[in-house]
This record gives sequence, C-alpha cells and structure tokens, in this order.
Amino acid sequence: MEDKIQEAKSHPAIKASPLGGGGGIQVFAPATVANVVCGFDVLGFAVNEPGDEVIMRVTNKPGITISKITGDDGRLPMDPAKNTVSVSVQHYLNSIGRTDLGLDIELHKRMPIGSGLGSSSASTVAGLYAIKTLLGDDTDPINLLPFAMKGEEMACGHGHADNVAPALFGGFVLIRSYEPLDVVRLPHPEGLYCAIVFPDVDVPTREARQIIRKNIQMKDAVTQWGNIAGLVSGLFMNDIDLIGRSMKDILVEPVRSMLIPDFYKMREMAMELGAVSFGISGSGPSVFAFARDEDTANRITEKLQKHLTEISIGSNAYVSTINDKGPRVIG
Ligand code: HSE
Repeated sequence: MEDKIQEAKSHPAIKASPLGGGGGIQVFAPATVANVVCGFDVLGFAVNEPGDEVIMRVTNKPGITISKITGDDGRLPMDPAKNTVSVSVQHYLNSIGRTDLGLDIELHKRMPIGSGLGSSSASTVAGLYAIKTLLGDDTDPINLLPFAMKGEEMACGHGHADNVAPALFGGFVLIRSYEPLDVVRLPHPEGLYCAIVFPDVDVPTREARQIIRKNIQMKDAVTQWGNIAGLVSGLFMNDIDLIGRSMKDILVEPVRSMLIPDFYKMREMAMELGAVSFGISGSGPSVFAFARDEDTANRITEKLQKHLTEISIGSNAYVSTINDKGPRVIG
C-alpha cells in the first residue's frame, strides 16, 4: 500500500495543479455488494443505487472542515479528524504535499448506515473522487484505493477493499492480493439484475467480523475456493447457471445469517421466484439476489419486503444492474 501512496505522490499532474479558491464539485459514489457470497473480502460489485453524495468546496483557510451531514440521523462525526471522508481526503492531500489546500465538505447520506451496502465506502470514495477531480488528477483511480482503505479501517477496524474498490472503479472487482495490493477488474454478463433488500436491523461490520471463525478445515477451504473459482469462471464465460451454483458460502454465511431475520426463509422465497443466487450483502443485514431480468428482481424484492413487514421489520429495497461507471460528478 505504501508503494501506491508514493506513486500517487510523485505524479506530476498532481504537484503542478494550480487549484484556486472558490471552486466546488458534487460527486455521487455507488453502494456495493461485497463478498458476493463466497468471496469473503476478495470480491465485490457496484450497483446503480443507492449511493452517497459529497459536495466539496475550496476555502481560503488550509485544512478540512465538514459543514453539513444529512441523512445520518446524527450518527456520523462532524469532526474532520474522525470522519472517514475527511480522514481519507487528508491522507491523500498529505501524500501529494498539498496541505496548503482548504476544503469544506458536505456529506449527504442517501443510503442506510450499517446496511452491508458499503455505506462508508460510498462516502469515502465520493470524497476522494471529488478531490481528485478538483485537482485535475487524471491518474488511474487505483491510486486512490489505499486512501479509501484507510477510511474502511477507521470505519470498522479493518482495511478491506471489497467495497471501496468496486465503488471506485465500478463493475465487478477481485482483490487478488492485499500485500501487495493487486486488484483485478472482472467482466460480468450483460443484463444481470441485482435485487437488494435491507431489513432494518443493526449489524455493525466491526461486530459481524468478530463472530467469524478464525480457523477453517482444509475440506471447507477446498469447497470455498472451488466456488470462488466457479463464480469468477462464470463471470468470464457469461454462464449464469455456473454463477448461480458457485455462489455458496460455507465459511461465513452460516454464522452471519443468524444476525439476519428469517435469512433462510428469504432465500427459499427468492429461489422459488427464480433467483439465480441469494446471499448476504457484505456483512449484512442486507441480502441480495441475482436475477436474469428486472421483473424477477422486482418480484423478489416485493415478496421479501412483504414477508419482513409481516414479521414487523421495516425494510428498503433496490433493484439495479451492475454499475460499471463507479463515481460520477453530478454538479
Ligand atoms: N468483506 C467485508 C466483510 C465487507 O464481510 O466484513 C463489509 O461490508
């Protein structure tokens, strides 16, 4: 990771940037589905909605301020030393020697916090993409990944990249290695729909990571890496059946599913309606299903939401194709 930071620091376009006072930008970054069932900490993809927005303005006083956060019910810190967006942006500025800059940040949460949809990643990536764009930094967005991972580390105690990388690049992403960081962008079948349901229960990622088994048996590892390889092969081969039968997780899901109301009942319902696969999004409690068309995806979200209402649990639902664009400037 330090190598990547040094690489970003030495880029000439960044050092030469003449950013003046008064400029501003509004950026959207998407939610992501991490793990994709069998690929704990190594696979993720971006969706079209939901996502978060950051408005970043240049100020005359060096340093970062946060003037507004909306949509968080007061849960996120306004202190720039404690907020993942400002901390990541500050790391980036430090690394390129631009601590002379003054920035003000507004963060507009357009997605639930602690949902398993990469909420902190979407905010952090929106912030990093905003400063990258303001500075006219046209280097590969991969250079931002180490800074985004620092935000994840702060948010949940572990700097995994399976949310931040797809939020940053869009599409389907494999983290082939963390040390050294090696990220591979994967293809995916056209027209694959993702149906997401967020049951309104709290599952903090930090805690959902603590309950996972630390040791696994060789026979379980064999099953798991067979499935990961099957999923990645299915993505390359456009083989939706192979994708479906590979999306099985015998390591993490059996433990985490206990934190999600009626997880196995919801799986049964989704599969009966024609889902290709079903699983936990990130660390949960959101669940997701792949579907071959939009109608099926909509029927799945409707049925699961109806069921959650019947057991007195509120929910949000999103239907989306895979988002290949990643963050974008919206104002
Ligand atoms: N891979 C991470 C985990 C994603 O499952 O803990 C968190 O959303």
